Amino acid sequence: MTKIDLTDSLEKIPVKIFPDPQSGSAFVAREIAALIRQKEAAGKKTVIGLATGSSPKTLYAELVRMHKEEGLSFKNVITFNLDQYYPMDKDALQSYHYFMRKNLFEHTDIDPANYHLPDGMIPKDKVKEHCLNYEKQIEEAGGLDLQILGIGVNGHIGFNEPGSGIHSKTRLISLDNSTRIANAYEFGHMSQVPRMAITMGINTILKSKKIILMAWGQTKAPVIKKAVEEDDTEDIPASLLQNHDDCTFVIDETGAAELTRLKVPGSPANVIGPRA
Ligand code: F6R
Repeated sequence: MTKIDLTDSLEKIPVKIFPDPQSGSAFVAREIAALIRQKEAAGKKTVIGLATGSSPKTLYAELVRMHKEEGLSFKNVITFNLDQYYPMDKDALQSYHYFMRKNLFEHTDIDPANYHLPDGMIPKDKVKEHCLNYEKQIEEAGGLDLQILGIGVNGHIGFNEPGSGIHSKTRLISLDNSTRIANAYEFGHMSQVPRMAITMGINTILKSKKIILMAWGQTKAPVIKKAVEEDDTEDIPASLLQNHDDCTFVIDETGAAELTRLKVPGSPANVIGPRA
């Protein structure tokens, strides 16, 4: 029988496990609302980094509900999205501009001047300048108060594919084939998925004061375990979040299935690990 060293199985990033994406998203939405209200009371704007894809959809639905039913205002919110395909027209159905407008922005009172996404149509020779400027805009807004993340099955955060360094900044990157396959559903066929994207870097993300990564479903379970339990490595970019002192993974029970605390009864993580 293989002997499992339980001391090696502790989680290096706090993980909150919820029964389903709805309850996990409601928790994250409450965190965001509390942050917005707290900063507003101090006369300040809240700067939030946003993700797209399937994971944050339930979060955005809950924020829209809070706006409509509980008066949560986005007037004092400034947002910066993590990434955008390249090339990509901002009005294309698959663009993250379109995604954000349809899933969040159009249904809230956010000022269109206050939301930012990388420009997927910037000419190649202007990309570098555009990326530097994106970093500058985040800094001028006061830096990110909170960054919302999803995670790719290959461990990417934003479009920081495996190999992305801890010091990486906003830049143009080639997408992994696994990412293009995972996102083919947005396009109808993989051949139509762009080969490149502009993404905030790992360093840009780590500079956020607080980070919440959301992941739902069994397909994410193996990479969640690697990111939180194993040593941090550029091969699993999400594991680099172990270097942040206020990062939480919010996941559902199926996404947690590979964690030692659930797999090995009586493991240390099972006893002391945080649970929602
Ligand atoms: C998207 C992004 C990506 C996704 C990740 C997970 O803005 O930054 O890192 O969060 O690919 O995608 P879903 O949520 O579709 O599984």
